[in-house]
Amino acid sequence: MGSTVYPSSAPQPIRLMVNGCAHDVPVAPGTALLHVLRNDLELNGPKYGCGLGECGACTVLMDGVAARSCVIPVKAALGRSITTLEGLGTRQRPGPTQQAFIECQAAQCGYCLNGMIMTVEALLRRNPCPTEAALRSELHHNLCRCGTHVEIMQAAVRAVQLRTAGVAGDSVP
Ligand code: FES
Ligand code: FES
Repeated sequence: MGSTVYPSSAPQPIRLMVNGCAHDVPVAPGTALLHVLRNDLELNGPKYGCGLGECGACTVLMDGVAARSCVIPVKAALGRSITTLEGLGTRQRPGPTQQAFIECQAAQCGYCLNGMIMTVEALLRRNPCPTEAALRSELHHNLCRCGTHVEIMQAAVRAVQLRTAGVAGDSVP
């Protein structure tokens, strides 16, 4: 079988590792990672909020670190491990951070929750037992227009408890 020849003006496939799976996606390298995740890979956990890197709704993990995918060109994700909300667990076995937000019913419209959950998850991966002050500081730049900050903080604290207790979901390593 011969290899596929792409016209020079056509986007070249870019290999992305997302939630443990490789995807070859034909997109222009400057396309925002968020759009590729949502439009090409149908991963709708990350949300489009401000599109400016300021609200946090689009947060994913890149090599385990929180990153705002609306301002990251997809070419910057080459060779990196991307984890989206879908990669933290399943409906049947949510990850501990997801479980905490479910238990605490920490949503009104829910639009910000992807960013809240992924930001807490990133913190817990580098510091499994943060103080409430550290959680608050980490979430400081995530916006919630509905004002559910009290419940979100309760969920963040609960996530620490669940992780410490060894609760595990069907997550991507
Ligand atoms: S949509 Fe990316 S930070 Fe707001
Ligand atoms: S729950 Fe609506 S924006 Fe946070």
